[in-house]
Amino acid sequence: MSGDCDFGLIGLAVMGENLALNVESRGYKVAVFNRTTEKVDNLINGRAKGKNFVGTHSIEEFVKSVKRPRKLMLLVQAGPAVDAIIDQLIPLCEPGDIIIDGGNTHYADTERRTKKVEDAGLLFCGCGVSGGEEGALLGPSMMPGGSAGAWPEVKEMFQAISAKVGPNNDIPCCEWVGPRGAGHYVKMVHNGIEYGDMQLICEAYQLLREVGGLSNDELYDVFDKWNDGDLASYLIEISRDIFSVKDDQGGDGYLVDKILDVAGAKGTGKWMSQLALDLGVPSTLVTTAVFARGLSAQKEARVRASEKLNGPSEASNAEMRAAAMKMVGDREAFVEAVRQALYASKIVSYAQGFVQLQAASAEHKWDLNYGDCALLWRGGCIIRAVFLDRIKEAFDEDPNLENLLLHPFFENAVENAQEKWRAVVAAASILGIPVPAFSTALCYYDGYRMARLPANMLQAQRDYFGAHTYKRTDMDGTFHSEWIQLR
Ligand code: NAP
Ligand code: ATR
Repeated sequence: MSGDCDFGLIGLAVMGENLALNVESRGYKVAVFNRTTEKVDNLINGRAKGKNFVGTHSIEEFVKSVKRPRKLMLLVQAGPAVDAIIDQLIPLCEPGDIIIDGGNTHYADTERRTKKVEDAGLLFCGCGVSGGEEGALLGPSMMPGGSAGAWPEVKEMFQAISAKVGPNNDIPCCEWVGPRGAGHYVKMVHNGIEYGDMQLICEAYQLLREVGGLSNDELYDVFDKWNDGDLASYLIEISRDIFSVKDDQGGDGYLVDKILDVAGAKGTGKWMSQLALDLGVPSTLVTTAVFARGLSAQKEARVRASEKLNGPSEASNAEMRAAAMKMVGDREAFVEAVRQALYASKIVSYAQGFVQLQAASAEHKWDLNYGDCALLWRGGCIIRAVFLDRIKEAFDEDPNLENLLLHPFFENAVENAQEKWRAVVAAASILGIPVPAFSTALCYYDGYRMARLPANMLQAQRDYFGAHTYKRTDMDGTFHSEWIQLR
């Protein structure tokens, strides 16, 4: 037996409640369920009052209230809860029904669940959803993947509720990503790029504050200006706003200065880093950003170390300091140099993210469309930025583009920024300011553009101590040498 609801949603925490309201606001009738059923009543008697909702108090009632083929979405804590709910849904659903997981699920779980749900005669969709509470309510970025048959059924609704971009605000940030775990993989790479963007902004902030001596008011103005140019993005905009917020606990000064410098993480950056290592692709921005959060978390150790370990001494280093300060020029020139370093590093970060997507797509046979990925992230999500239009154009022009850095637009952008980028990294190093993301981005750029790297020495070492063999530049074949004899 089926009911008359167009959509069913399980999990009425922040994301689920807001997404359910979003779906209803587009003219759909929505059934809701939550393990703790008070949350169903709270929604029905609160924000959903007078709206086209059906509150249910058991999973059986929930399934029965939705029309076939049912579209049943889970927005619950990723992990065992998703498996437990799928196990309850399978016997209650009928052929053609669609189970959708909208959580931050590891793609490998989605690969496994797609098979399990399909084996039960149903369809599965693993859908990355980004944009937090506000995005869920007003229009998130959505990255659906899974059983191909699910897409024609959910397309209209998903595109209706997603963020819109473009000159007429009518291009949805929701497109089918690919089979099985592809959607959740793309969401994970979104989060990994977000880690890189956030770390790069933190480094720019530290340089402007500690080397440039900018106050929070001045930082507000700088970020405001940056938000008008190549760097225009949600993260630059919210960083600007942060500089304007005064202490909300009655103290003097700005709130940002009162926040403990210890960063947390829930883990998608770690997943992307682990998978980059598995694939052998150098996604160094995300790994560096994860490690930077790790170092920040060692607060007590850092405080102890700060009392013992010295940086460059001003007296002995006077000449180099003077050279560094000269390199960064006057204050206005320094701000501009940091902007260029940030822009070039950001391009490298996105280039790495797409290289990882390409490697994962090849390994899992997902046949990803990279232009679409850029479009999905153009609105609604945390990394939304004007700059993503350029990435979309680059992949639309050449879907097999090997690396964003090779596209003329990005090649020129890095070319134009590199002098200042190098000056900023060099100056930070001389002055003892850590810029791990700026410098790893520069190292990637320099490594990537180098036709010959010192890996010949590495291969010689491997062959010397472990007979691992090597190849030669001047003849075919695999070689092993007796290195001690040769000596
Ligand atoms: P959450 O805190 O991740 O999850 C809470 C929800 O999961 C509640 O409805 C809870 O039910 C349910 N739940 C937990 N364990 C369960 C179990 N064993 N059986 C049944 N239900 C269970 O909620 P959220 O922040 O709204 O996020 C939902 C999903 O979206 C997560 O995967 C999250 O990572 C992802 N996401 C979140 C955001 C965000 O900004 N918050 C953004 C994008 C994606 P009870 O009420 O009964 O405890
Ligand atoms: P969205 O999809 O809307 O971006 P999300 O994926 O749930 O929402 O999380 C948004 C960002 O906040 C992610 O970068 C997330 O990092 P994790 O992958 O480590 O979760 C970050 N975030 C969430 N909780 C955090 C915390 N306690 N400390 C630092 N970052 C956190």
